[in-house]
Amino acid sequence: MKRAIVFGATGGIGSSICEDLAKDGWSLYLHTNSKWNKAYEKATKLANEYPSQDFLPIKLDFNSSDAELKKFVDGLIPVNAVIFAQGITDYNFVGTQKMTMMDKIININLTVPIKLTHLLEDKLVKQEFSRIIYLGSVYGGQGSAMEAVYSATKAGLSRFSQAYAREVVSTNLTVNVLAPGAVDTPMNAMFSEETIAEVTDEIPIGRFASGKDISYWVKVILNPQSGYLTGQTIYISGGWLL
Ligand SMILES: NC(=O)c1ccc[n+]([C@@H]2O[C@H](COP(=O)([O-])OP(=O)(O)OC[C@H]3O[C@@H](n4cnc5c(N)ncnc54)[C@H](OP(=O)(O)O)[C@@H]3O)[C@@H](O)[C@H]2O)c1
Repeated sequence: MKRAIVFGATGGIGSSICEDLAKDGWSLYLHTNSKWNKAYEKATKLANEYPSQDFLPIKLDFNSSDAELKKFVDGLIPVNAVIFAQGITDYNFVGTQKMTMMDKIININLTVPIKLTHLLEDKLVKQEFSRIIYLGSVYGGQGSAMEAVYSATKAGLSRFSQAYAREVVSTNLTVNVLAPGAVDTPMNAMFSEETIAEVTDEIPIGRFASGKDISYWVKVILNPQSGYLTGQTIYISGGWLL
């Protein structure tokens, strides 16, 4: 049975990823940080729709200690795929952003995904085929003012995955970044209608992406036939910021 961990399963993009992968026959660990009921309800709904697959909610705060991260991973069974769809941002100038917030963004978006990759490697490389996907961003390719630290974490994921892909290339584990432009999810909920309209005007395709526009590509990369694609950052941005 093919099995994946979706970190950030309660988020806008993670939720679509879970739906598409479940439909494609995957069993899933659905990760949450703070919304246990939401992860549990989603797992129950998918289990009813796809009774021959397993759907298990799991909880982890990416601000946890190294010992807690290890304990979390030790409790998991081997998987074919890990998708890192968690993440946070904070709209602020570097000069006024709290340093504790900088630590949090770097930790949740970059440091802990790298540490979890290290801890999960053994559970991935023993499979016939395996995949890691990190959710990057167009801002990892072009830095965005007021999201400088966020941009740095996303650029970091692109270079980390490129380097790590080369380390594990002989094991059938591929490592890629999917880098969306603007996606209609709770991450953008704080923006006014006016700001959303301004950004939409800048996007050549003329609209924000939906979660499904991103999860489609997760499904493609998780297909065993996608094994020749590794170390890449693929921008899914409707032509924006290329
Ligand atoms: N939305 C966009 O326009 C956009 C554009 C480019 C890239 N991305 C990237 O795509 C990914 C998903 O974004 P999204 O829009 O789906 O975000 P979202 O709807 O805000 O969801 C964020 C997810 O991150 C999890 N999370 C937050 N704090 C955490 C922590 N301390 N430890 C572990 N998990 C934590 C949340 O878990 P709980 O809800 O359970 O707390 C939630 O599942 C992110 O990496 C984001 O940077 C998004």
